[in-house]
Amino acid sequence: MLAGLAGFGFLAGCKPSGGGTAANPIKVGEFASLSGKEANFGLSSHEGTLLAVENLNSAGGVLGRPISLITEDDLSKAGEPATDVNKLISRDNVVAVLGEVASSRSLEAAPICQASQIPMISPSSTNPKVTETGDFIFRVCFIDPFQGTVMANFAYNTLKARKVAVFTDVKSDYSKGLAKYFKESFIKLGGQITAELDFNGGDKDFKAQLTAIKASNPDVVFVPGYYTDVALICIQAKQLGINVPLCGGDGWEGEDLVKIGQDAVEGDYFSTHYSPESTTPKSQQFVADYQKRFNGKTPDAMAALGYDSAMILADAIKRAGVTDGPKLRDALAATKNFDGVTGTTTINEQRDATKPAVILQVKDGKFKYLETVNP
Ligand code: PHE
Repeated sequence: MLAGLAGFGFLAGCKPSGGGTAANPIKVGEFASLSGKEANFGLSSHEGTLLAVENLNSAGGVLGRPISLITEDDLSKAGEPATDVNKLISRDNVVAVLGEVASSRSLEAAPICQASQIPMISPSSTNPKVTETGDFIFRVCFIDPFQGTVMANFAYNTLKARKVAVFTDVKSDYSKGLAKYFKESFIKLGGQITAELDFNGGDKDFKAQLTAIKASNPDVVFVPGYYTDVALICIQAKQLGINVPLCGGDGWEGEDLVKIGQDAVEGDYFSTHYSPESTTPKSQQFVADYQKRFNGKTPDAMAALGYDSAMILADAIKRAGVTDGPKLRDALAATKNFDGVTGTTTINEQRDATKPAVILQVKDGKFKYLETVNP
């Protein structure tokens, strides 16, 4: 579903069809969950990306050309990403594709970008398989073997947990991967997994599994899910008298976690990529620009990574000097020490970024920064 053209109107004389006084725009595609179950993710990521494109265009564009961002809403639904990315590539002739937040949706689109030799950059999909698809597929965030270790260490060393139950969304590649990496690290530390239960993203009743989790008497429950499911899981866990902390990964980070979960999510912990409390000049400027552009809204990790993904693409286009796929691919692969909102990005041999994680706690209905964990 086409979500509209964005990023125009910042260069005098520039029209979406090109021509006029400005040179032909460089078309960049984006696919995101702007509606549906994970709309918080897609909207944040899109807003960050849009802000980057607007900033690039008001500074004169890239290679003297404005960027035209063409955005497709994949409705948070399997099946849509493939359709969207096919359209962006065949109908719109985009030079690169930005997306998706969720790993399963990135995994669906990646083979199409790879086969078309159009570079794809996921801002925030953390499952290792995404970039393993091929040499045209990149990401600007860390991967889940790291994130799983970060949360295993946090549970074992900071929360002093020795027994953890794990509750996995078997519909999500992200969830299955993060559960596995967490378990491996926690066991290595000397911890014990008391129960492993499954759910399907979108379920509404988690009580049977939570009853089994409670019976296993864990110190912590690790739930590598997305915020809509996690909020309901936290509510039902409290109703069943599970009073130990629940922990998760970046998938927890949506404003609806607190809107839906309210008191039931208070005090719980998750890891993610960025905190708007970061004091670097780049981050502070970004927070100010974002709040000005989006009615005072505070940016989250997806917004920051969306911004960095577009800026890293623009930097690669500048270094390549052209927009054809293989040359752009080579320039992206050569990204080194890019100074962005989420820190310094170097693309490694696996086309992933090695970056620190942050741990946040839900406190008074907000996400409070606790610590940064370096790789
Ligand atoms: N990392 C998650 C995935 O791969 C998506 C996500 C990224 C969620 C950033 C929240 C913040 O599916």
